[in-house]
Amino acid sequence: MNHTSKNQDKNKAHYEKLYAGYNINNILHWLNNRDVFLELATKTETSWFALYQGDFKYKLKGKKILEMGCGDCVNAAIMAGLGAEVYANDIADASGEIVKKINENFEFDHPIKFVKGDFLKNDLPGAQFDYVIGKAFLHHLEIPLETLFLTETARLLKPDGEARFFEPAVNSKLLDEIRWHIPIGNRPSKFNTTAFLKWKENDPHPDRSFSSKHWKKAGSKLFREVEIIPVGTLERFSRLFGWGERRNRFKRWALKNEKLLPKFINLILTRSQLIIYRGVVVNEK
Ligand SMILES: C[S@@+](CC[C@H](N)C(=O)[O-])C[C@H]1O[C@@H](n2cnc3c(N)ncnc32)[C@H](O)[C@@H]1O
Repeated sequence: MNHTSKNQDKNKAHYEKLYAGYNINNILHWLNNRDVFLELATKTETSWFALYQGDFKYKLKGKKILEMGCGDCVNAAIMAGLGAEVYANDIADASGEIVKKINENFEFDHPIKFVKGDFLKNDLPGAQFDYVIGKAFLHHLEIPLETLFLTETARLLKPDGEARFFEPAVNSKLLDEIRWHIPIGNRPSKFNTTAFLKWKENDPHPDRSFSSKHWKKAGSKLFREVEIIPVGTLERFSRLFGWGERRNRFKRWALKNEKLLPKFINLILTRSQLIIYRGVVVNEK
């Protein structure tokens, strides 16, 4: 089956360009100062805070992990630095170049293995991974393609394996509309119709559901257990603080304290989510 589409072509073009000639010095610095990096990242950055929930970093040594959509490969490198045997894939071949450079410059227990090209054409034997990870990955796929990736996740995981996906969350239509009308970075406001449509033309995100309900339903077909952990209800306001230590201090405070809010409030207002799937129901191939 051919898995290309206009959206996938856009993703490939966008990320090949973004990661081309990537300087890995920052990754090497973080690998060499891994504990300090993780301490900071998991307390300040939503994606790291979410993905490393539940003492994740202590669970990785000797484990076999697949990361889909590894991008700049920082997370793949950190997981390998923690002693995991990491397989990584990205639609962008530039990620493979990053992996090659990291492997040449850092002594891992297990060098990272890059699975090049269309991941759905991989010939990896099933039921072999302890973890399948996606960090800001699934929401880049149109839903029929996501279904194929989730089915592949179920095929590749060991029966007691676990999948963790950190993704954005849109559980309130009203909040989402407000968000689209506030310009941020290079994204213009929806009020500015022409500029917005031009921006959208190059944006690698498909129009699709990002709701927790969607990911719960999608996972329930393949896994016995689905857990959704909302992240970012208060942290989302960090944008009001500009850049710098004041903003980081707010982020740390917000990530720590938003957990105290009732879960139904967090679920509606959250900006992102960690989706955990456990207990494979279907091992298809
Ligand atoms: C938002 S980036 C996230 C990158 C990285 N995981 C991170 O946390 O920084 C999304 C990544 O998904 C990749 N991607 C999109 N479609 C893909 C596909 N069909 N197969 C593999 N990777 C894909 C993109 O190339 C990009 O690197």
